Amino acid sequence: MCSIIGYYGNETAAPILVKGLKRMEYRGYDSVGVATENDNEIEVKKGTGKVNEVNSKVQLDVLPGKIGIGHTRWATHGKVTDLNAHPHPSNSGKIAIVHNGIIENFEELKNQLESEGYSFKSETDSEVIANILQKNYEITKDVKETILKTVSELQGHYAFVAMFENGQLAAARFHEPLIIGVGQDDFFLSSDVLGFIEYTDDAIYMENGNFVILEKDKFQILDFNGEHAKYGITKVSKEFGDAYKGDYAHFTLKEIYEQPETILKAGEKTADEIKSTADYIRHAKNIYITGSGTSYNSALIAKQILSKYAKIKAEPIMSSELQFSPDIIEDNSILIAISQSGESADVLDAVKIAKKANCKIIAIVNLLTSSLAREADVTIGMNCGPEIGVAATKSFTSQLVILYKIVKYLNEENLKIDFNQTSQSIGKILENPTNVQKTAKELKDISDIYVLGRGIHYPIAIEASLKLKELTYIHAEGIPGGELKHGPLALMDDNVFVIIINPNDSTYTDTLTSAREIKARGAKIIGISDVQSDVYDYWIEIPKISESEFPILEIIPIQLLSYYAALEKDTDPDYPRNLAKSVTVK
Ligand code: F6R
Repeated sequence: MCSIIGYYGNETAAPILVKGLKRMEYRGYDSVGVATENDNEIEVKKGTGKVNEVNSKVQLDVLPGKIGIGHTRWATHGKVTDLNAHPHPSNSGKIAIVHNGIIENFEELKNQLESEGYSFKSETDSEVIANILQKNYEITKDVKETILKTVSELQGHYAFVAMFENGQLAAARFHEPLIIGVGQDDFFLSSDVLGFIEYTDDAIYMENGNFVILEKDKFQILDFNGEHAKYGITKVSKEFGDAYKGDYAHFTLKEIYEQPETILKAGEKTADEIKSTADYIRHAKNIYITGSGTSYNSALIAKQILSKYAKIKAEPIMSSELQFSPDIIEDNSILIAISQSGESADVLDAVKIAKKANCKIIAIVNLLTSSLAREADVTIGMNCGPEIGVAATKSFTSQLVILYKIVKYLNEENLKIDFNQTSQSIGKILENPTNVQKTAKELKDISDIYVLGRGIHYPIAIEASLKLKELTYIHAEGIPGGELKHGPLALMDDNVFVIIINPNDSTYTDTLTSAREIKARGAKIIGISDVQSDVYDYWIEIPKISESEFPILEIIPIQLLSYYAALEKDTDPDYPRNLAKSVTVK
């Protein structure tokens, strides 16, 4: 979603803000802006485009003042225009805000403010915050009272930072992330530790329904009743500052290439948590597994491996759908919530529903300080380091490894899997991408790709099609092999490419038959398999391994294929259009 940032200290704020925004750009990247306060005046610079583009156009980092706020936008209300970019000043220009989230009652508030003579320059919901703050500040003449009054009027979910002309900064959190970075002589406010990790690793994760006021050398954190709130300073892992591309052209490529190591770190040092999860699973009335996007695709795999190797039934639930049928959730059950960021609003909502039904929550997350981790009874960390590329790659394979570890604990006899072997096999695929690169060239001008898989390979086909869509903007769809004749075969002609996920396991022969049926209709076939076949127009070889490991392995060449096809199509693989990494709004 959007990223917000604030700086209060002894250094010139603008360059620090711009650096922080650059690091958080994965959260939203259609517009960017910065505002600083200097000699009781607020100056704003903003525009559409990515941080570097806008910075070279308007020099965001050349603004005077040691107090400032900044924002990268992922549009929700209003188009991608300069005027809709944040920061938004209030009518008087004496207050400016940056906001992440959605103000649900903004129309009502806007109408009220307009009837009182306020005017609006943007189409955003966020601009109302600036003007309500102005109105309340003119009444109360006090920042604390102003924030209290303002949050009592706002509905929805938000994190905002407000900068007052007198040099005070205040920030409030309600169901959107907000972290305070505590430096030697300065403070940072940020949606993500990446916004300030270069300067300090002391962080305060603000609780929901709290706000902070920063003044010279001090800060106070209060709750929405105006009472002092408890907080703790956490040492943030410096590893999260390790978000550099190194020699790789893109974060996405770097993250794909990290997988031989990251799968070995998944769920590391969580033997106790895996044991508790297995105990919960054994005693639960029902097991639900939830997530969004790629994390939901992991839930689909989890269902299959739990039933195949541990004879345990589980129900995957798409997080965004649960609110429409909350009665699915029965009490005395468990919900396994999978989320890289731990901040997806849909996932957090699903957790809320499950908690209401007295379910235990198991979180599989990458960010151990996230809202999801804090809501859970048991948390298992993916430990895959920051995933900056918007499309999930290494987090997916880490999620799978954790799920496999849980199932392995439940039935060691049935599930034999050696992750060192898997890691080596991934390494082998990555060693020589030439064949994948060549195949990617063929995808440059096509408009439809289908990905076919049977059994456990069908969720991988869905995940593969998600990667292709996100990175290449080519229409892509996962097809369960057996359903081909029940409809999708009608789509096959010589304009179409079909990726066949076909490792040599129990699905092999049937899937090969599907490939032949497709080929007979003129479509081109890309086979992902450990066995060559004449039916494949392009064969992408995967190493021979034990059957249980194939799902973890077979997604790797498709991640690579999506990446290289994105380069062919000249799209930005790290920042697909219209998307954002951490979807904290519904
Ligand atoms: C796909 C992708 C998204 C995320 C989804 C959930 O490549 O990145 O579909 O998987 O938004 O995000 P998390 O796992 O952070 O909850």
